[in-house]
Amino acid sequence: MTQIPGITLRPAEDGDLPQIVNLDRLSFAPLSTNAEIEREWYGQGLALPDRSLFVAEQGMTGLAVGSYAQLRLGVCFEGQVLPAMGLSAVAVAPHFRGQKLARLLLEHAIADGQAQQLPLMMLYPFQHGFYRKLGWAWVGRSHQYRVAARHLPSYTERSHIVPYDPFQHEPVLQALYQRAALKHNGWLKRWDWQWQSRVKPVTGREVYCYTEAGEPLGYVIVQFARLEPPQKLLAAIVQEWVATTPAAYRGLVGFLASLRDQLSTIVWNTYTDDPFPHLLREQRRDPALAAIASEFGWTHHLGTINAGFMWRLVDLEAAFRLRPIAVQPLFQLTFQLTDPMLGERTITADFVDGKMYPTTQPAATQIKTSIEHLTELFAGFRRSRDLLWTGELEVEGDRALLSSLDHAWASTPPFCWDFF
Ligand SMILES: CC(C)(COP(=O)(O)OP(=O)(O)OC[C@H]1O[C@@H](n2cnc3c(N)ncnc32)[C@H](O)[C@@H]1OP(=O)(O)O)[C@@H](O)C(=O)NCCC(=O)NCCS
Repeated sequence: MTQIPGITLRPAEDGDLPQIVNLDRLSFAPLSTNAEIEREWYGQGLALPDRSLFVAEQGMTGLAVGSYAQLRLGVCFEGQVLPAMGLSAVAVAPHFRGQKLARLLLEHAIADGQAQQLPLMMLYPFQHGFYRKLGWAWVGRSHQYRVAARHLPSYTERSHIVPYDPFQHEPVLQALYQRAALKHNGWLKRWDWQWQSRVKPVTGREVYCYTEAGEPLGYVIVQFARLEPPQKLLAAIVQEWVATTPAAYRGLVGFLASLRDQLSTIVWNTYTDDPFPHLLREQRRDPALAAIASEFGWTHHLGTINAGFMWRLVDLEAAFRLRPIAVQPLFQLTFQLTDPMLGERTITADFVDGKMYPTTQPAATQIKTSIEHLTELFAGFRRSRDLLWTGELEVEGDRALLSSLDHAWASTPPFCWDFF
């Protein structure tokens, strides 16, 4: 464990609010005022049912020089809800940077995660490299298409779209999201407050539902905004969409197409295997936006791939027990892991009947890799045979078991609508 002389880490108390607000301002929004930060970020006070804050206090001055928040999350994966800790607002006072305080805060969070036997941690990094050095893995990839509204197909199912009415639709829509979440990897099982903050009225934000016989089967949350210099063009930024049937999906896309007279651009945020780009009239970015040279042969700029959140496996046994796998004949593997924060670790498991059973007897085949790479594999983000090829993983024993492992862990990589 990292020790910094004179620094103690403790749960935040109500009286710490002004200091935490000041740290957040200096770390994330140095042009805002403390009053603005307090209003926007801590409108409901410091402690929320699913959020705990911690401060690093300097004994000599009694000042908080660092703080961070732990969030209680449920991450949907292969039909299960994995209990997870979200990390946010990791902040170190500018005058205290580079003294390993951030590392101390993260070690504290991991120790708590281990004590709670949490399989997983999740965070949105300011820089991926910083957290990779500490064992986190980039697993959140999203796609964004900035396309002309007139290039969207105007499906007739758009006639089923109605404006969101909180009194009529709220509970049904929330339940619809939760059902959809369980069918996707990475979506959060939302607590009520997470859902409420998603649909609450905000200037420029609108929610529309796709309904059949009064029953919502999908919805889209859009934020209207002026895009890119010269900021003349009005766009609808899709912040979240859920469609439970193909008709609902076409209804949402057709609805956005019908905004073409008012809007230049639709910004469609989505996951990798969404068929959206195939349905466009033109496979290209909105030509009204500033041109981006493709720099490669006869191609058009179509969309961007964005690097988002990171995961880190914490309690390996819990993670292995909870994750369903593809069914195939029994095999056994031992993982020897390097972990920059927790040191060397080993886990052996039997892979059988669609599940993993941790055991103590070492297996004949051993895989050597890091906690970061194990997390990538576990998430279905990369395959062990690719890691062998790049030298990020080594095998002792039967190499053919890498194919079995890749088959067992094959899954759609995680994607998440929520940001924190
Ligand atoms: C990011 C922040 C929390 C780091 O705090 P800190 O206490 O200075 O960090 P530490 O001293 O524990 O660690 C810094 C180490 O990370 C390294 N590092 C920083 N960025 C890195 C990167 N992209 N890739 C690899 N290493 C990186 C530094 O070189 C340093 O390593 P060294 O000590 O071996 O030289 C702090 O700068 C901060 O509050 N920034 C503004 C708010 C913010 O961005 N928070 C993160 C939210 S996700």
